[in-house]
Amino acid sequence: MALAFVNGRYLPHAQARVAVEDRGFQFADGVYEVVAIVGGRLVDVDGHMDRLARSLGELRIAWPMSRPALSLVMRELIRRNGVTTGLIYLQITRGAAPRDFKFPVPAVRPTLVMTVRRVARFGSPAQLADGVAVITIPDIRWLRRDIKSVSLLPQVLGKQQAVEAAAFEAWMVDTDGLVTEGCSSNAWIVTADGTLVTRPTDHLILAGVTRGSLLRLAVELGIAVDLRPFSVGEARTAREAFLSSATTFALPVTRLDDQPVGDGQPGDLTRRLRQAYLEAVCGVRP
Ligand code: PDD
Repeated sequence: MALAFVNGRYLPHAQARVAVEDRGFQFADGVYEVVAIVGGRLVDVDGHMDRLARSLGELRIAWPMSRPALSLVMRELIRRNGVTTGLIYLQITRGAAPRDFKFPVPAVRPTLVMTVRRVARFGSPAQLADGVAVITIPDIRWLRRDIKSVSLLPQVLGKQQAVEAAAFEAWMVDTDGLVTEGCSSNAWIVTADGTLVTRPTDHLILAGVTRGSLLRLAVELGIAVDLRPFSVGEARTAREAFLSSATTFALPVTRLDDQPVGDGQPGDLTRRLRQAYLEAVCGVRP
């Protein structure tokens, strides 16, 4: 039976509860993280914990427990669920208090929810062999996308639109026609001369932890990197495109708005970066 960790207790999912006045439910006043589990170990966990610290700090939400204690509980929840390949989700909200927009005074205890899910893999064999399809949609989100907030309605609508177009992801596009990021992933292209291009991190995109590791690996591999926004048109004529996240690692994108990207096949650089990530970060042997 799947166990969740909710406010200090390990409980079967069916018994796990959050209060109706929780500010996560009432206002989306909370943050989250998603971390991959490979071989029973957390992938890129320091990066995720650093980003969690930043998200909490930006919203002035207190840690529900110390960072070392949180790491311990994550590992214990994974152990109790017997998951060796999967994902762990953490949601932290400002807590439960009578509905009022401003922060509760005195402060209430933040709500912490952790769940673990078994997944078969981070990208299916078909997705790796053929690549995935992506559509483009207007980016209708707020201007603090650097905070990993649980307020995900634009992404919910975007993903639904993608599914209805038989696509895997939707890339969001700003008013200048430049791609910001995917609904739950960062967006990348490879130019004709083999340069890796992805948007620099600022308040307009989430600083993907997978993105950060892939960039470090690219530099190690001697791949030219250009941190700049790219347009939908440029992506369509790029040599390669791919997306990155904790749930997919690096996954080739071979169709954009129903047109092939490059030659329509997954690219070599995408494959090399994914392999490097699996070996160097996930500890998977070649
Ligand atoms: N999403 N951009 C957005 C908007 C995201 O939601 C995510 C992750 C990323 C990639 O970040 P990372 O490499 O740290 O996973 C970029 C997670 C996986 C999710 O919501 O399921």
